[in-house]
Amino acid sequence: MITRSQDMQAWSAGVHDVGETIGFVPTMGSLHRGHLSLIEKARAAADRVVVSIFVNPLQFGPGEDFEAYPRTRESDLEALATVGVDQVFIPGLSDIYPDGPEHTATVSAGPLGDVLEGHHRPGHFDGVLTVVARLFDLVACDVAVFGTKDAQQLIAIEQMVAKEQRSIRIIRGGIVRDDDGLALSSRNVYLTPENRADALILHRELQAIENSAHHSRPTATGNPTDPLERIEQARHTLLVAPGIELDYLEAVSSDTFTPWEEQPTGEMVVVGAIRVGTTRLLDNVWLDSDTVLRTAAADGPQ
Ligand code: PAJ
Repeated sequence: MITRSQDMQAWSAGVHDVGETIGFVPTMGSLHRGHLSLIEKARAAADRVVVSIFVNPLQFGPGEDFEAYPRTRESDLEALATVGVDQVFIPGLSDIYPDGPEHTATVSAGPLGDVLEGHHRPGHFDGVLTVVARLFDLVACDVAVFGTKDAQQLIAIEQMVAKEQRSIRIIRGGIVRDDDGLALSSRNVYLTPENRADALILHRELQAIENSAHHSRPTATGNPTDPLERIEQARHTLLVAPGIELDYLEAVSSDTFTPWEEQPTGEMVVVGAIRVGTTRLLDNVWLDSDTVLRTAAADGPQ
């Protein structure tokens, strides 16, 4: 385990000196099987794997759960020992922000930082990009793995890497779920059994959108369902569902994260966020463009 930034830089320089590559999985700890699946991907893509654990104050807004965020270092280290990583980087605040977080020049997420999750959490993505850029500098990784669970974060990071012309390959890791379908999240520990039962409706509705896009076929009585229509229906269901508050349910482009209607390129990502009690939960589904275009075209004028 490494805690100091200069030790991290020295370790990575040593790995590169012998011609090996570094795969990196940044986390905020409280590790679950979702994180571990990203580590597997990093291992398959690079010679050495580094996992970081750092609860980044810059990406939490006032009144959010920075203090309460689950910190479980012992069990995290045990989990990492079972999957086997080459280095765990657990920096202190001053290793990441030598001048203090409030005196750090932030990386801007641009327009993507102001919509959807960014609209509900102003400054969040600037905070994420700032810490990820700093971690990339210290770890000097060749490959980094991020989950599609946080789709907007993933695309913001991909855009930053492209804009800054960093030679880092970003790999996307799919969503790992619990048996009941709930996407694994460090924040799930906040949920009561009732919260959890209520929360499942987001996954169910996203699944219904995915199923209707994949399985719809023209029939004698009607056309296949345009995903955008099915999303509208799901939005209504979520708005009236008991025990949850819907923040948003939208279809965006996986290229730009702008509304799908404005830019139907890449995959259609249907992203949703709900509040259950005091906990915000995210989930999403990715629909390949062939499916989306086929169903939308069949739904149009014949
Ligand atoms: P954290 O929430 O710990 O997530 C670390 C990584 O795990 C992210 O790439 C996230 O998308 C991924 N992840 C979370 N839940 C997942 C699931 N159920 N299945 C697969 N992957 C999942 O995201 C952050 O930390 C921070 O914002 C960070 C990038 C570390 C910057 O502080």
